[in-house]
Amino acid sequence: MAHTRWYKDRVFYQIWPRSFFDGNGDGFGDLIGVYEKLDYIQSLGCDGIWFSPLYPSPGADCGYDISDYMDIDALYGGMEAFKKVLDGAHERGMKVIMDLVVNHTSDEHEWFQKSRRRIAPYTDYYIWRPALPGGKLPNNWDSQFEGKAWQWDEVRQEYYLHLFAVKQPDLNMDNPLVREEVRKILRFWLEQGVDGFREDVITFISKKDGLPNDYLMPVVRGISHYNHGPRVHDYLREFQQELKDHDTFTIGEAPLVAPGLALDYIDEADGQLDTMIQFQCMGADCVLTDYLPLPFSLRRLKRAFGQWQTKLRGRAWNMLYLENHDHPRVISRYGSEKYRVESGKALACAYLFQQGTPFVYQGQEIGMTNWRPAKAIDYEDVQTRWHYENFLAGFLPDRLRLKWCHRSSRDSARTPMQWSAEENAGFTTGTPWFHVNENYRSINVADQENDPNSLLNFYREAIRLRKGLRVVREGSYVDHKPFSGSLYVYSREWQGEKLLVICSFVERPVKFEAPQGFEMIYGRLILSNYGSQLDGNGFITKPYECRVYHFGG
Ligand code: NOJ
Repeated sequence: MAHTRWYKDRVFYQIWPRSFFDGNGDGFGDLIGVYEKLDYIQSLGCDGIWFSPLYPSPGADCGYDISDYMDIDALYGGMEAFKKVLDGAHERGMKVIMDLVVNHTSDEHEWFQKSRRRIAPYTDYYIWRPALPGGKLPNNWDSQFEGKAWQWDEVRQEYYLHLFAVKQPDLNMDNPLVREEVRKILRFWLEQGVDGFREDVITFISKKDGLPNDYLMPVVRGISHYNHGPRVHDYLREFQQELKDHDTFTIGEAPLVAPGLALDYIDEADGQLDTMIQFQCMGADCVLTDYLPLPFSLRRLKRAFGQWQTKLRGRAWNMLYLENHDHPRVISRYGSEKYRVESGKALACAYLFQQGTPFVYQGQEIGMTNWRPAKAIDYEDVQTRWHYENFLAGFLPDRLRLKWCHRSSRDSARTPMQWSAEENAGFTTGTPWFHVNENYRSINVADQENDPNSLLNFYREAIRLRKGLRVVREGSYVDHKPFSGSLYVYSREWQGEKLLVICSFVERPVKFEAPQGFEMIYGRLILSNYGSQLDGNGFITKPYECRVYHFGG
C-alpha cells in the first residue's frame, strides 16, 4: 500500500489517559472520558491522537509496564470503550496512534512468569544471566529508574536485566520468537484499525553482544552498549514488514540521538520509521536528564531546533514537541510562571511554525504549570521516588531534594487535566487518583473558552494558521539570531512566500531589528500576543512578546 505520509499535514494531541478525563466517576481518566472530549480535541485543530499506553498493566510505571499487549485495561473501559473512541475519532477525520512498548514488559506478564520458571518456549524471552563469582552482578550497567540494571530472581536463581524499573524486565529481542510476538502485536492493533505507533525507547532494543561493562558514561552506565545497538535496524526492518499493507505513521522514541544518526532510522529513502522523538529540544536546561538541571539557555534550545530543522530537510521529517508525560511543564522551565500566558504563547510560536508534525500534550494548550507537592511522599512516579530516596541522599538535605524533584519530576506534568474551576478541576466526580494542581481555579479550559485572548484560543489560531500556510509545511528554515540569549527569530521561505517568527524569551525589553531581506512594512502580522501595532523596521519587545509576520504568497 502507498505510504502517503498523511502525518505531514496533521497536528497530534497526546493523551496520558489516567489524568485526562474521568467518564465513570472512579477517579481515573478513562476512554469514556476521552470519547466525551473528542469534540474538544477537534476544536483545537488537532486531527491525530497519540495514546500513552492503555493496555492492562500493574501500573508500576503508569502503564509502561504491560501485562497484556492484546487488550485494553478495564480501568480505561476495556476493548469496547476503545473501539467506540477509535470509531469516534475516525468519524471526525482524526487518526489514532498507540504506544508500542516492547523493550520491556511487566514482570507480571505471563511471558515473564513462565520464563522465570524456564517453561518453553519462554525460557529465553528475557535477558537472564547467572551471578558472577561472589554473587556479583553480571555487569556495571545502571537502570534509568531504580539503581542497578540487574535484579536477582529467586525462582530462576539468575539475574534479569531491567533498563527501567525492577518491575520492567527487558525482552530479549535477539530471540526470533520475541520478534514474532512484536509482529503479532502490530498485526493485532492494525486489524483493530489504529493508524500507527509511537515506539517506546525503540533505540534500546538491541544490546551489544556479551553485555560488556560501560566505562564511558558517568551516569546511566550501559547506555553506550544498548542505545543504537548492533541489530536495531535489522529488527526494525522486520517490524516494518507488518506495516507495508497499511498506510501508517511510526515514531521512534530516541534518547541521545543527533540528527545525523537519526537519519539511519528515518531517512525517507530507506528508513524504518517516519520520525523520531528526539530529546535535544528538552535539553536546554539540563544535561542528559531532567535530574541534572542547568539554567535555561535559549541558545541551546535554538541550536537544537536549528540542527533538526536543517539537517533533516529534504530527507526526513521532524516531530515537534515541547511537552509530554516525561518532562516538567514547559512554561515552568523555558517560560515564566509570572508571564504564564505571554510566555505560553511565545513558546507555542517557537515550535508550531517549524517544519514537522507538532504534538500538543494535554494541558499544554491551557498553560498548565508544574505541580509542587509539600511532601515527597505525594509523588507517585517510580523515577521521582527513587531519585528522592537515593540520589544525593546523605549529601543534600530533604528540603533541597524535594525542591530538586519540583524542578525535575515527571509528576509535575501528570496531574489531572484542569477542565473547570469546579471541584477536582472538573476532572472527576469521584476522588481523583492523583493530586490536582491547586491553581485549577485560575487555569482551566472553561474559563479560557470564554476568553478570546486565552492561551487556549491562541493555540487554536496558531494551529489553524499553520495548516493554511504551505510555507510552514515546505519552507526552508533560517535562525536569524543564533547567538542571542533573549530573542528567537526564525524565518521560513517557500516559493516567494515568507514567514518571520519573533519570540522574546525574557521579561526585559529587547530591541528587535528586522533581519536583512525583511521589510516589515510589507509583512502582515498574522499572530501576536500583544496586539497588532506596526512600528517601522524594528521594535522594543514587551515581556515574552511574540509576533508572526507573513510576506507574499
Ligand atoms: C519512555 C516513556 O515515555 C516513559 O514514560 C517510560 O517510563 C519509559 N520509556 C519506559 O517505558
